[in-house]
Amino acid sequence: MPSTPAPDARDSALPARQEEAPGVPRHVAIIMDGNGRWAARRRRPRAIGHRAGARAVNVCIDFCLEQGVRALTLFAFSSENWGRPEEEVGALMKLFLAALDREVEELHRRGVEVRFIGDRTRFPADIRARMQAAEMLTRGNARLTLAIAASYGGRQDIAAAARALAEDVAAGRLRPEQIDEAAVGARMALADLPPPDLFIRTGGDFRISNFLLWQLAYTELWFTETLWPDLDAATLHEAIRAFAGRERRFGLTGEQVSGTVPPSQRSATP
Ligand code: FPP
Repeated sequence: MPSTPAPDARDSALPARQEEAPGVPRHVAIIMDGNGRWAARRRRPRAIGHRAGARAVNVCIDFCLEQGVRALTLFAFSSENWGRPEEEVGALMKLFLAALDREVEELHRRGVEVRFIGDRTRFPADIRARMQAAEMLTRGNARLTLAIAASYGGRQDIAAAARALAEDVAAGRLRPEQIDEAAVGARMALADLPPPDLFIRTGGDFRISNFLLWQLAYTELWFTETLWPDLDAATLHEAIRAFAGRERRFGLTGEQVSGTVPPSQRSATP
């Protein structure tokens, strides 16, 4: 039986929905890996793999909308990916631009809020403008929040939060003794969303690869050999089934979580 997730102050950021099903993660975060290998197996250029990967993004969004997942964060481009061959980075930029032009209206019509996390100053002006327009158009849509991590790095996210804290202290808005987990968390990307319940990585590697380092602290991790462009609903159902079978303890004991210990004896383990 899936255990009930611990209450989170940020739950209120997602409007309640009647059809929220037990065992369905509220927030899914995905590393979409394997585009290059998918293309190599077909003796095609890597850019073709990324194009096929863009189609799989739609499969994933459709699935989340059907299942009542409330937030989906996709790792589209890491801060390290800028170091890839110029030709591949160029192809990805073209693909992002085309996807923004093609998909945003439809996402808006379907009630999806689109947002971007990461250092967008590194993107060309046309892409930055499209990102901003997509965010403005879809702001407040409540069916699904789609966060695209682009030029994103988890360490960079933590460093930016540390810098924001330092600025607040230097300006006298915050005292050092007020810096706690909540103060750091409030300055991280996606601070207004509950943290991911389920992390999925396709492509067969078992790594977090500098994705949401802070936010994944208690996330259930699920890995598959499936290459991202081959993603289908059956694979995503498999991930959800695995998630539903996990007991989430959040540092407590199994007995505490299942309610077989009286509340008076419940205390967090280290
Ligand atoms: C990792 O596969 C994938 C990327 C670096 C790019 C992800 C981009 C997409 C899925 C397409 C478009 C996305 C959006 C949001 C429109 P890899 O190239 O590292 O694959 P490999 O490990 O097989 O080489």
